[in-house]
Amino acid sequence: MKTLASALPDAAASAPFPADFIWGVATSAYQIEGAAHEGGRGPSIWDVFAATPGKVAGGDTGEHACDHYHRYREDVALMQSLGVDAYRFSIAWPRVQPDGAGAWNEEGWAFYGRLLDALDDAGIAAHATLYHWDLPQALEDKGGWRNRDTAARFADYAAEFVRRFGERVKTIATHNEPLCTAMIGHEEGRFAPGLKDRKAAYQVAHHLLLSHGLAMQAMRAAGARAALGIVLNQSPAYPAAPTEDARIAARLADAMCNRLFMDPLFRGAYPADLLAHLGADAPVVLPGDMALIGAPLDFLGINYYSRIWAGAPAGQPAPCALGVTDMGWEIYPQGLTEHLVRIARDYNPPPIYITENGAACVDVPEAGAVHDPQRIRFLASHIAALRSAMAQGADVRGYFAWSLLDNFEWDSGYAKRFGLVFVDYPTQQRTLKDSALWYHDWIVGQRRAA
Ligand code: NOJ
Repeated sequence: MKTLASALPDAAASAPFPADFIWGVATSAYQIEGAAHEGGRGPSIWDVFAATPGKVAGGDTGEHACDHYHRYREDVALMQSLGVDAYRFSIAWPRVQPDGAGAWNEEGWAFYGRLLDALDDAGIAAHATLYHWDLPQALEDKGGWRNRDTAARFADYAAEFVRRFGERVKTIATHNEPLCTAMIGHEEGRFAPGLKDRKAAYQVAHHLLLSHGLAMQAMRAAGARAALGIVLNQSPAYPAAPTEDARIAARLADAMCNRLFMDPLFRGAYPADLLAHLGADAPVVLPGDMALIGAPLDFLGINYYSRIWAGAPAGQPAPCALGVTDMGWEIYPQGLTEHLVRIARDYNPPPIYITENGAACVDVPEAGAVHDPQRIRFLASHIAALRSAMAQGADVRGYFAWSLLDNFEWDSGYAKRFGLVFVDYPTQQRTLKDSALWYHDWIVGQRRAA
């Protein structure tokens, strides 16, 4: 494999990671699988949302995506060529239970069995996520996550996953980024199911947490041996100015984005300041809910992309000293260090995995290569920031780059590319970007140093 040693010095400057630290890559089902109408899969809310004119850039849908459903062997071989220890992927609930209740679809389960076989053969550990936003549409038709009963349906599905594959995966995360499902899906309306209703959004947040608690209980009862946890997107919030208003804005942003989930999971209650702010829009919580939600986790997954710049006077952007990615998100690796140190201090969490971190860049293939030095800088600086958090006491066990492949970036469609591997969608040809070669070299370097 070609090497890019010249890109190494920055990150290599930090101390080596522990010998058992896990290096991985991540994806999710709807973003890569395609084969939306094959193998008995039922429709998901993202099929319906993406098919609605005006919802996704370019009218893109996940119907074909990266055709991973058919090309999973090639994709596992790509992971092998990167030298990763681990692969984080999600199960498409509508593929294994098309209606979200009742009969299981054996053909759907068989696909994940084949994927796990391929990972086993490649010596790559499997890290599964049960819900990465593709709710069976049949459940949405009954109120989706606004309906408390969906939480019970989710727990049945989680237990069935454990009965079938619980011995074959290293970790199981119930949810990926419930904040996005709740707020972008139900308050902003930019993600499926596309509602704009703040009260509904907070009730959904509560039902997602409840479904997590019920699923944890059901998976433990089913004899789960894998480590069980949840994946949260977190962004530290910084006041944009040294004023009381900006400090209040940052504190509220922290409550809405971080403490909304962390407090129920680790402290047994919603943040009082958030409840006061929400007033009548606060979620309805039934007796017993908080105890279920607060049951101990084996691990916490954190997805980190950027920080929140709160309370800026009109028109004043964040400093963005290191620039922005193609999503327009500020590149701020220091936020990862500071946030992890704060989480360790405030919550005494279980072992943490960085379950996603990465950058969208404008990638242009050139004679069989893709030169993406910005992504290499992004990854190297965030890995160094992570190492620094660990040196300050954060117990982090692994890092998963988002993403293995360019893929369907939700409302941005295929226009935004996060992959270490470039995908030419018309031909489905995969090309390792320079960042993939760099990540390979980085992992090899870490193993040598260990
Ligand atoms: C987080 C989400 O989990 C993932 O699906 C998405 O593609 C990345 N962020 C990038 O936006």
